[in-house]
Amino acid sequence: MKFSFKNTTQIRFGQGQVDSIKKQIPGDRKVLLLYGFGSIKKNGVYDQVTEALSGFDWLEFSGVEANPTVETLDKAVKVAKDNSVNYILAVGGGSVIDSAKYVAAASCYDGEGWDILEGKYRVAKALPVAAVLTLPATGSESNSSAVVTKKATQKKRVFSSPHVQPVFAVMDPDVVKTLPTRQLANGIVDAWVHVCEQYITFPTGALVQEGYAEALLKSLKHLGENFDNQDDLWRANLMWCANQALNGLIGSGVPQDWGTHMIGHELTALYGVDHARSLAIIQPSLLRNQLASKKAKLEQMGRNVFGLPDGDSLAEQTIEHIEAFYQSLGVPTQLTEHESEKSVAIDNIVDQLEQNGMTKLGEKGAITVDEIREILATAVA
Ligand code: NZQ
Ligand code: ZN
Repeated sequence: MKFSFKNTTQIRFGQGQVDSIKKQIPGDRKVLLLYGFGSIKKNGVYDQVTEALSGFDWLEFSGVEANPTVETLDKAVKVAKDNSVNYILAVGGGSVIDSAKYVAAASCYDGEGWDILEGKYRVAKALPVAAVLTLPATGSESNSSAVVTKKATQKKRVFSSPHVQPVFAVMDPDVVKTLPTRQLANGIVDAWVHVCEQYITFPTGALVQEGYAEALLKSLKHLGENFDNQDDLWRANLMWCANQALNGLIGSGVPQDWGTHMIGHELTALYGVDHARSLAIIQPSLLRNQLASKKAKLEQMGRNVFGLPDGDSLAEQTIEHIEAFYQSLGVPTQLTEHESEKSVAIDNIVDQLEQNGMTKLGEKGAITVDEIREILATAVA
């Protein structure tokens, strides 16, 4: 395949790097500091950031929720417009960074911000965005995508634009120290599935992309196996793995799936399932459903990532190992959050996917409504 690859985000990696904000942001900028519900006030990151911003004209917007909603973010857009903000600094996980991307784009647009998520407006301009990452998982700190939910209609949508690619990202692994176990496990699973979505398709002969994907999977597996022995190196490795999993490199020039993500997003929109947990619920069932077309790659993963011996059942064993990996991290692999009959939940999820036009998923568009129903039949408890 032909491809074009450019990742323009300046990474400032390591302990104490928050201080570099003062050099990275031009001094004449009016900065909007965006954050969530206060974890950064408890772990000292807020103090570090405000110290670094001391010479700047800045204001803040807090209360960005996990799986951010356009209803909340449009309030931040109003603050940005009313105060002539011209730089957005996100301090948080994927939700806050994605939000900064939305606010940056919607602040330069006169129409309804949701148009961006519906594809009615293609982002032509955005304020500069930068990120201080506090949760390694999504890779949002150095990619150009964002996921926003409309609470009123339970729609969770993605947009991408080079205009919202963060200018720089501070990645201090010390922030991981205050993450609850659940968020840490989620981070490993999300990064893992990001690699899988760009790797478990069909053999490509792209030695660099496939080899690097396997290196990331082996690293994440190692981090999961050493979950109880976290030290500085463990935290730094996790942060770098999650970043590299979705910074555009391993997906360049190779087929990509993203079916697990698209179905998973509906579990979050409908039942509030954490993003990573939605993926662990869907992926094993999806892989079993697509075993025939993904067999060669699953076998390659079994050999090169899990060290499994060759044999007729190698692909199926690889899926079992993936499932066991999630379970070893305390992440369930079936949906239990729906409060209705199983059949009603399946109908609801399929309805949402149909409304969003998500009925030709997978690297070959082979996951249609019938396959989605089969996948959900085993993924929903
Ligand atoms: O709100 P606060 O108080 O900050 O608490 C957050 C939040 O409740 C907490 N947290 C973050 N850093 C912490 C911390 N708690 C203690 N110590 C710290 N250092 O963690 C909770 C979850 O944060 P969130 O940002 O929601 O998690 P994550 O990074 O997993 O982001 C999930 C969002 O990213 C989207 C997902 O759909 C979801 O909306 N994604 C974005 C992608 C992208 N832009 O490329 C790709 C992904 O596949 C994903 O779809
Ligand atoms: Zn993800």
